[in-house]
Amino acid sequence: MSYVIRMNGNSNGIQKDALNGKGIGRNGISENGIDRNCVSKNGVNGNSFSVNGFDGNGFKGISVHHVSARVPVSAAKLKARRQRWNVRASEMSKNTLNPIRAIVDGMKLTPNPEKPMIALSIGDPTVFGNLPTDDSVLQAMKDAIDSHKFNGYAPSVGYLQSREAVANFYSQAGAPLEAKDVILTSGCSQAIELAISALCNPGDNILVPCPGFSLYKTLAVSVGVQVKFYNLLPEKSWEVDLQHLESLIDDRTTCLIVNNPSNPCGSVFTKEHLRNILAVASRHCIPILADEIYGDMVFPSCEFHSLANLSSDVPILSCGGLAKRWLVPGWRMGWILIHDRNNIFGSEIREALVKLSQRILGACTVVQGALESILNNTQAEFYQSTIGFLKSNSEICFAELSTVPGLNPVMPSGAMYLMVGIEMEHFPEFQNDVDFTERLVTEQSVFCLPATAFEYPNFFRIVVTVPEEMMVEACGRIREFCARHYRPLSQESNDLDQ
Ligand SMILES: Cc1ncc(COP(=O)(O)O)c(C=O)c1O
Repeated sequence: MSYVIRMNGNSNGIQKDALNGKGIGRNGISENGIDRNCVSKNGVNGNSFSVNGFDGNGFKGISVHHVSARVPVSAAKLKARRQRWNVRASEMSKNTLNPIRAIVDGMKLTPNPEKPMIALSIGDPTVFGNLPTDDSVLQAMKDAIDSHKFNGYAPSVGYLQSREAVANFYSQAGAPLEAKDVILTSGCSQAIELAISALCNPGDNILVPCPGFSLYKTLAVSVGVQVKFYNLLPEKSWEVDLQHLESLIDDRTTCLIVNNPSNPCGSVFTKEHLRNILAVASRHCIPILADEIYGDMVFPSCEFHSLANLSSDVPILSCGGLAKRWLVPGWRMGWILIHDRNNIFGSEIREALVKLSQRILGACTVVQGALESILNNTQAEFYQSTIGFLKSNSEICFAELSTVPGLNPVMPSGAMYLMVGIEMEHFPEFQNDVDFTERLVTEQSVFCLPATAFEYPNFFRIVVTVPEEMMVEACGRIREFCARHYRPLSQESNDLDQ
């Protein structure tokens, strides 16, 4: 018979074989090289603590060993023994909800067989093949693989050299960075997860933009953190309603999330507006999670300002990554930049981030190996051509849809998205944006994401990365769809009759 016993102690770490009945094998974690790089060696904060939670004497806390033995089972144990299988999903998994999936999976998306499908819904710039990454980016990755140097585990916060490269790339006069201020993550998504988990306890609340990227809520709610939505104002190019923002703050507010440039709005905040947001955070002593994954992806007519460069006191965790600007979302490389010149986060938050990074032992090492070269060798023309394309497609889409009765597109200034308001009163056949976009698929085979997925009903979001001819075709079909279903209000039709 074999069963599991729990031990406190100084074993040699977690076993690969620990749960298969072979007993304690030789492959402790330190042997596998995970634990070779302690934080102080890599300069996270100068304090010495282990990246992987070891204390030098082996694994701290409880370890699990699987042993075989022939021991009589007591009557009490037999009575307590489960009589049947009852394997249940965890509360955390049940509380993990992706609103986009929930909404899209609930829609009846049957395209018109006469028309090829055009999906304007997917925020992945690689899907149509028209926006390849730069050759130098691919070469950096090939070189990293060929070097055979990046097949092992890195420190969970990332290789020192790769973190140094990110720090150098993003350092600014007003917001200097060193390697110790950078944590590499598996995509910007994990950066956001680490930041929320480091700053918030169950029962706390965070302030999240509305409309906004749905992952913030997904991550927060799954760990018992409440989400409060602050309004963005379409009539003011999606600026934050500062009064509303401030009215939401209470003594359990532990983080303000600012997403600039924005998904789903494509908006880019001015320096002045960012300063106003900082003033609110400063007044209430709330740290900011700045989601700047679209940083620098702004149209030539405007400028991107990182929040950290404008902050004099508010501590900021700036989250970013390779996904969008370098057009490689599948490579899953992201980072947190810790901006804390006044030492408000101190060592506690840094240590929290380091500890949390150990949960999955860090970001993909091959991409880490390529990172320095990617950041330093991608030519400006590559970014400019991507941005030029996004701007031109946005202009085509905006020009087309702003002349469609019943629709109100909002011209973006960056990122890869454009929001379109639907005057629902002119489309009485449809209950809401979900209904509207569902029928758009049925009749015209064009799929746009209903903005209910971003907590913002009666809008839909268009992704502008599709090839230009598809964008033109899709807009034409949206026009046809609206013309068919648009109904003037009775007052308007009376006016027309006179
Ligand atoms: C605003 C925003 N933040 C974060 C992410 C996640 O980025 P990553 O793919 O690097 O995890 C996305 C992805 O679409 C996004 O739109």
